Amino acid sequence: MDLKQRSRPDEWAAVPHAAPSLTGERRPRVLVVDDEPNIRSILLRALGGGGYELSEAPDGESALAIIEAGGVDVVLSDLLMPGMSGTELLSLAKSRDDALGFIILTGVGTMEDAIRALRLQADDYLLKPFNLDEVLLSVERALRHRRLVLENRYYQEHLEGRVAEQAQQIESLFADALFTIAGAVEARDGYTGGHIERVTRYAVATGRAMGVNADTLRQLWVAGLLHDVGKVAIPDQILGKPGRLSQEEYGIMQRHPTIGANILERSSFLRPAIDGVLHHHERWDGTGYPQRLRGEEISLVGRILAVADAYDAIVTTRPYRKKSPSEAAVAELRRCAGTQFDPEVVEAFLRALRDGLPEAADPYLVPGRGWGVAAVA
Ligand SMILES: [Fe+2]
Repeated sequence: MDLKQRSRPDEWAAVPHAAPSLTGERRPRVLVVDDEPNIRSILLRALGGGGYELSEAPDGESALAIIEAGGVDVVLSDLLMPGMSGTELLSLAKSRDDALGFIILTGVGTMEDAIRALRLQADDYLLKPFNLDEVLLSVERALRHRRLVLENRYYQEHLEGRVAEQAQQIESLFADALFTIAGAVEARDGYTGGHIERVTRYAVATGRAMGVNADTLRQLWVAGLLHDVGKVAIPDQILGKPGRLSQEEYGIMQRHPTIGANILERSSFLRPAIDGVLHHHERWDGTGYPQRLRGEEISLVGRILAVADAYDAIVTTRPYRKKSPSEAAVAELRRCAGTQFDPEVVEAFLRALRDGLPEAADPYLVPGRGWGVAAVA
């Protein structure tokens, strides 16, 4: 084979630009390590026709310094050298770059040396006097192996990131769709608008007044926005009925927390808020719905939402009654503390009310503009 005619392996051109330290822009770099200058020069001459960028080192220490500086793809190293041996260099070099190609060349190798080198993941072990074609084939094999390792690693890392990103986008789209549905439900429910947003703000303010952690704040946020999303399945004639509901109609209405929880179940993103949605009509004395839970059997998020929801319902005009002033709502919450509501939650809500409930809508609460998870943490 005429070494001067030899070109780079075709596959080399296909190395992805993004793969670290093996870009298609630069030539593969080969480092020749041997204490004998004439061996180095034979090898460098042979490799010179292969399109590689070449470096040389007379011993292991200086070779390691070149490897640590980065950019070396394959090392061709003598086994026996003064100072650091070829296998010591192999071990240290692999600890710096585990995908580094490494070929051991030796004139005095024993079987033990060969086994040790291969155990340390040398790509090849060639005996002197070596055939230059064999050396070149070995270098190409080592480069191909390195390229595959780096490509696999690169695609694995980037694919995982991409899949996670897409999963998050899907979750986010699902959440946005639900917020839109929740907004539509609010309109059907006879509120003039802003109820779910106000309930969410009141609930978050109450949670803050109670000193809850970031996870619970997040749940308050999501459960607040989606607490009545299950009403999407409640017929208009029940949802918008101006008068009192019949027993049967009330039974249908009482399904909405369970329906809402089932909707949230479909998203791992929203699932932590399920209890809040499911429990927002439970009562502290155990006479609520749908599960007739009592006291602290009801999730804290559910207990907080119950208070926030009731307060807003009282101060807002509904199809079946006019709104009442805030003082009347406060009196009603106090009257029902210990029966309908958790007394501690009522106290925290009243503290938040005294301190001034947030007036402006938090931009993170607006559907379609993100749902505030990051903003809470
Ligand atoms: Fe509700």
